[in-house]
Amino acid sequence: MWGLMAAGLAGALIVPGVNAAGDPEAGKTKFYTCEGCHGVAGYTNAYPTYHVPRVGGQHADYVVSALKAYRSGQRKHGSMLGNAANMSDRDIEDIAAYISRFRAINVKLPVTGNPAVGQGKAESCGGCHGEDGNTTDPNFPRLAGQHESYLIKSLHDYKSGARKNPIMNGIAEGLSEEDMKDISAYYASQKKGLTIVED
Ligand code: HEC
Ligand code: HEC
Repeated sequence: MWGLMAAGLAGALIVPGVNAAGDPEAGKTKFYTCEGCHGVAGYTNAYPTYHVPRVGGQHADYVVSALKAYRSGQRKHGSMLGNAANMSDRDIEDIAAYISRFRAINVKLPVTGNPAVGQGKAESCGGCHGEDGNTTDPNFPRLAGQHESYLIKSLHDYKSGARKNPIMNGIAEGLSEEDMKDISAYYASQKKGLTIVED
């Protein structure tokens, strides 16, 4: 009953082009269990060793689709399935609204690949992810300021098919190990980008 009323109210307030579906204040409370991993700078996933992705400043629409993919098991990851399994659509939208309001900050993450070479190799990615990885199109995830090791891991998963997306599976197929490293280094070393979530 209350949920229906709230949904009606939210419907009336939606501004085109802005994701007004979620409530960032409610999302902040719901994000509490996530902070141990996504709110700690440089926190590493135990096995295999790559950094937990930065989600602060990520587009709300992408966060919603990522959480739904973990919840359904379409995107496989042990701890994220555990975290998303019991979430309602409302929880997911509130959390996405909270995460996405963070502003891109100055970043300079350590990298192992060659960012200058990566910039050239990333030219074909810019149309969707933005030239510097800071796309304003909510349909595509921001890559700027994301951990190099997580970007490489994602590209591996798309290439092997472990992570399914018709666009990215095709794109990753054509990338060599060296390409993935250099491109990931380029996005990770942008001046502005994603951040951890902390208040
Ligand atoms: C135990 C550590 C841990 C906890 C707790 C955790 N996460 Fe994650 N999260 C991860 C890891 C590791 C990944 C990357 C998994 C993969 O490769 O798909 C991830 C991925 C994500 C992604 C996808 C990021 C992207 O760029 O695609 C989102 C969104 C996310 N988590 C949100 C949350 C939310 C919301 C919570 C709390 C309800 C949460 N996480 C709790 C470790 C954690
Ligand atoms: C036609 C649009 C398009 C192009 C071109 C494109 N991407 Fe993507 N990319 C996407 C979409 C859509 C997703 C989200 C897929 C999903 O939900 O798994 C994505 C996801 C990603 C992710 C995962 C981000 C995360 O937070 O987990 C990485 C890394 C990535 N792309 C890298 C690249 C690179 C590198 C290139 C160029 C070589 C590229 N993309 C070109 C549309 C595109």
